[in-house]
Amino acid sequence: MSLTLDKNEILTWLRETNPARLEELWRRADETRRQHVGDAVHLRGLVEISNFCARACAYCGLRVANTKLTRYRMDAAEIFAAAQQAVTFGYGTVVLQGGEDYGIRTDWLAEVVRGIKSETPLAVTLSLGERPEKDLAEWRAAGADRYLIRFETSDADLFTKIHPPLGNHKCDRLVILRQLREIGFEVGSGIMVGIPGQTYASVAEDLRLFHELDLDMIGIGPFIPHPATPLGNGGKFFPSGNGEQAPNNELMVYKSVALARLVRPDANIPATSALATINKVNGRELGLRRGANVFMPNLTPLKYRRLYEIYPDKACIAETGDTCHGCLNRRISGLGRHIGSGQGGRKQRQSAAEMPAGQEWGYA
Ligand code: 5AD
Ligand code: FES
Repeated sequence: MSLTLDKNEILTWLRETNPARLEELWRRADETRRQHVGDAVHLRGLVEISNFCARACAYCGLRVANTKLTRYRMDAAEIFAAAQQAVTFGYGTVVLQGGEDYGIRTDWLAEVVRGIKSETPLAVTLSLGERPEKDLAEWRAAGADRYLIRFETSDADLFTKIHPPLGNHKCDRLVILRQLREIGFEVGSGIMVGIPGQTYASVAEDLRLFHELDLDMIGIGPFIPHPATPLGNGGKFFPSGNGEQAPNNELMVYKSVALARLVRPDANIPATSALATINKVNGRELGLRRGANVFMPNLTPLKYRRLYEIYPDKACIAETGDTCHGCLNRRISGLGRHIGSGQGGRKQRQSAAEMPAGQEWGYA
C-alpha cells in the first residue's frame, strides 16, 4: 500500500530538528522498508568503466574541463573480470557506470552486455549518462536490465545552471526517464541533496516526483564539493541567502531517504557511496536503518578507482572487492539483516493509474 504524504508534510519533515520526532520518521521508514522489501540487503557490484566525460557539470570532478584528471577506459576483458568477481561474491547485479563517454561505442558496449548476460546470471545495470535513445534501445536489446540516471534536482533553472547542455542539444532527464521505461528498462533516478541553490521546498518537490515517476530505484546522496569544479567552494556559487538552502549534511540525506521510502514503499533504495563518504563510520548502516535496502560495493580495479573522482575522499577507495565484501557482510549482519540472493529487481511496478482509489499521491 502506498502511503499518502502531502507536500507540506514532507516539507515539515525535511525541516524537523527534534530528535524524538525524527525517531518516529526513522521508525516509520524502517517499518515500511521491512513490510515492502523485507530484511534482505541487495548488493550491486559497481564497476566504473570509464572516467571520460563529454559534459561540463558544475559539480562533478569528471567534467571535461578538469584537465588534471588522468582518464581511463576499461577494456572488455577487465569488465568481464569485474563481473566475474560479482558472481564470486554472490552479488545479483553488476552496475556498469561511467561518464558520458562517446568513446564507449554503442555496439562495443552491446557486445560486452551480451557477453555478461550469456556467461553469468547477473542483472546488468547501466549508468552512462544521456546517450541518444537509439543507444539505450540497442543496449536494452543486448540484454541490459536497468538504467540509472539521476535527475539531480527538480528545480529546472538550477539543473540548467549546474548541468549545461551539450552543444545545442536540449536536455530533459524526465524525458529520458520516460524513454527508458518505454524501452523496457527498470528505471532508477535520484538526487543530490544540498546542491548550492537547492531549497527545502525543491527537495520536497523531488520527493513528490519520486512518487509520480514510479521509480524502481532511488539514489540519494549528499552534494560533496569537489575542488576542481565551479561548485568546489562548497556553496558560494549560487548563494540562496534566505535560510531556505537545503543543507548537504548527513541528517538531510537520512530524512530524504526515509521520505523516499514512505512515498515509494517498494522501490530499491541504496545507502549511497556519497553517504558512506560523509560518514565513513556508520553512514551505510544508518541509511539502511532509515529506509534503504541496497548497497553498491565498488568492484572497480584499484588502479582506476581513485581516478573515478566524481567527488573527493570517496569511501572504500583502497579496499579490494574482497575486503569490502567481508566488511559489508559484518556490517549487514550487525544490523540483524542478511544479504539478498538473486537479482533483487523491483517486485512489482504499480503505476499511479493502477493504484486503488484513495492511495494516490495526496499532493494538493
Ligand atoms: N557530490 C555528490 N554527488 C555527486 N555526483 C556527481 N558529482 C557529485 C558530487 N560532487 C553524483 C550525481 C551523479 C552520480 C553518478 O554522482 O548525482 O548522478
Ligand atoms: Fe567497503 Fe567496508 S564497506 S570496506
